[in-house]
Amino acid sequence: MLAVNDLKKRLEIIRQQAFNNIDEVADLHKLQVLKSQYLGKNSDINNILKSLEKFPHNFRIEIGQAANKLKKEINEYIIKKFNEIEKDNINERLKSSEIDLTLPGIDFNIGHINPLLKTVTEISEIFKNLGYQIISGNEVENEEYNFNRLNLPFDHPARDMQDTFYLENNNDKLNRWLLRTHATNMTARILSEQDKNSKETTAIISLGNVYRKDDDDVTHSHQFMQVDGFLVGSNITFANLKWTLNYFCHQFFGMETKTRLRPSYFPFTEPSVEVDVSCPKCNTEGCSLCKYTGWIEVLGAGMIHPNVFIAAGLDETTAGFAFGIGIERITMIKYDIDDIRLFYNNDFRFLKQF
Ligand code: DAH
Repeated sequence: MLAVNDLKKRLEIIRQQAFNNIDEVADLHKLQVLKSQYLGKNSDINNILKSLEKFPHNFRIEIGQAANKLKKEINEYIIKKFNEIEKDNINERLKSSEIDLTLPGIDFNIGHINPLLKTVTEISEIFKNLGYQIISGNEVENEEYNFNRLNLPFDHPARDMQDTFYLENNNDKLNRWLLRTHATNMTARILSEQDKNSKETTAIISLGNVYRKDDDDVTHSHQFMQVDGFLVGSNITFANLKWTLNYFCHQFFGMETKTRLRPSYFPFTEPSVEVDVSCPKCNTEGCSLCKYTGWIEVLGAGMIHPNVFIAAGLDETTAGFAFGIGIERITMIKYDIDDIRLFYNNDFRFLKQF
């Protein structure tokens, strides 16, 4: 019968041998061979472990523990050796290969802000500084707020199936769900929610996507963005509107920009105006951007129509002004971009310029 010490001696010999062999190895393949020799199924250590069945309990425990500890030590020694060989191999490769430090590196494309987001951020800042609250508002809307309460007559062409994306088919119903055709819906909504007796000034900018059944081309898109603002309070006059729009145009297009107001028509404002700015490219000299007129239309505005106040349940003597700006349009003017589709294609060559 083998004594505990005999087996311990055998384990010690295996350990010496294994460590010596591992020390001498210089390539990964040989290391792998050693690994199966010392730790594989038929290794001496495993055979010792298998033979323990015949021995008494204490003996089994003592030798079993010693053998498993040895397996662990050998395994760790192999891993250490593996790392050393790997490191040597890499150093060898680096030494033998010629690295040309003058070659250009890999060009990482860093993300760029879409110019529309730039405009949205700028507009928000301009109006926040004037005390306006910025909201985005409902894109799925119904006729009540998109048209009815904005004094848009039932036969207005904008209500036509050709122009509006209706989400319901029932033509008889005058309150179909739709995708909002303008961000002015929020004026109707907020005025309707307004405390009827409040004398406080309400100043809101609503900002976001609107939808129209347009065929996409260089200047049209079935989905685009608008800023719609209004200010309602005591003693608000056309002079306040004019000052606000001038301020906006100067902040957005530059202090040297000139503005002019032309009479216009919107169902929800009376009087209504359209605002032109002096062409930022040629400064009224005349160029392709302004179609040789020197001026470019940038927004629509006016004093809110009494019918809008009445529809909202407010006193018809309430006063306020409103304005609407196409975000794509003013971005195209500011940066001289000639195709609206560029905003949505995510072409990196385009985005990189901003
Ligand atoms: N909603 C108009 C449109 O989509 C733009 C507009 C004009 C908005 C005048 C206004 C406004 O708030 O006062 O064409």
